[in-house]
Amino acid sequence: MKYMTAFLIAAMMMISGCGTEDTNVPVNSDSENTENKPDKDENGETTYLPEGFNFETRSVKLNSGYEMPIIGIGTYLLTNAQAEESVYNALKVGMRLIDTADIYGNEVGVGRGIRRAMNDFGIKREDIFVTSKLWTSQFAQADDEIDERLERLGLDYVDLLLLHHTAPNDEHAYQAMERGVKAGKIHSIGISNFYEDDIDRLMKIAKITPAVIQNETHPYHQSRSVKQHIAPLGTIMESWFPLGGKGTGIKTLSQHDVITSIAKAHDKSPYQVLLRWQLQSGNIAIPGSTNAAHIAEDFDIFDFELTSDDMKKIDDLDQNHRFASY
Ligand SMILES: NC(=O)c1ccc[n+]([C@@H]2O[C@H](COP(=O)([O-])OP(=O)(O)OC[C@H]3O[C@@H](n4cnc5c(N)ncnc54)[C@H](OP(=O)(O)O)[C@@H]3O)[C@@H](O)[C@H]2O)c1
Repeated sequence: MKYMTAFLIAAMMMISGCGTEDTNVPVNSDSENTENKPDKDENGETTYLPEGFNFETRSVKLNSGYEMPIIGIGTYLLTNAQAEESVYNALKVGMRLIDTADIYGNEVGVGRGIRRAMNDFGIKREDIFVTSKLWTSQFAQADDEIDERLERLGLDYVDLLLLHHTAPNDEHAYQAMERGVKAGKIHSIGISNFYEDDIDRLMKIAKITPAVIQNETHPYHQSRSVKQHIAPLGTIMESWFPLGGKGTGIKTLSQHDVITSIAKAHDKSPYQVLLRWQLQSGNIAIPGSTNAAHIAEDFDIFDFELTSDDMKKIDDLDQNHRFASY
């Protein structure tokens, strides 16, 4: 069970004082486990879940020590007004994770939705997990950008800040995020749209190991080699386009025979099956939606469980096919 073992090693390094602040854990160089398949436990059963991934609390304990909800709302392509409504509706039904980014241009709306929901539903700030991302054009002046985003969101801190993409100055921006952690402006930091070589490059300068990597991940593109690569770091995969993304992706996946037949067997929708597969695969999912009923449906995935046969059938759909070109 190399995946779990590797995670334990990373956890032990943190406990022994090499963690959080000073961790620069080498990336996985385990040449035996190079096949693109999930690990097996001691009984030969397939295992998916990273240590700390908890269906009871609906959260995962990050390598930064913070708890992160495993399902939440995405806000890509949402206007400020739409983001405000979606965030409000997500918090209303019980979601506690929100994903935004500077480049979405909706951080102001996200902040409004958070404040409205806190007022109306009595939710505490510390029970909400807000993620945003530094865009590439902000990397050179990342320290200032961190402050400006807190102002836009109307928050004292963000729970997670990600580098949105690799770009010149990304290492400088990562170090600015590390300074943001020290200053209490950010709890956890991570990366997005990074693959193996760039992860290795970043790890050479990182003092804080990325807590999360957010990459395109769904049944047609399961990100197995990246997940294997980050497992020794204790970094968690967060899936963007968990439903395939707006457009052809969501149709392709939600109308696929394998997904519709599993949905029928569990009396759930194809979207719920796609999201449940994400969680049972050990991925955090952030489905985007402007529809209150869809948001409620996307959160209603804790009363059923995909069987190992269901999981295998969906795993077998992997074809390294992306629905986005970036
Ligand atoms: N880091 C990155 O580079 C990156 C890139 C892309 C996205 N992201 C993040 O990942 C999030 C998810 O990606 P995404 O929003 O582009 O794609 P997605 O979540 O895969 O799919 C969104 C689509 O699913 C539909 N949908 C959601 N729930 C549904 C349901 N229960 N029934 C029917 N349709 C449903 C939405 O339509 P309705 O509005 O009608 O519900 C929307 O068209 C984004 O919102 C963003 O926060 C990050």
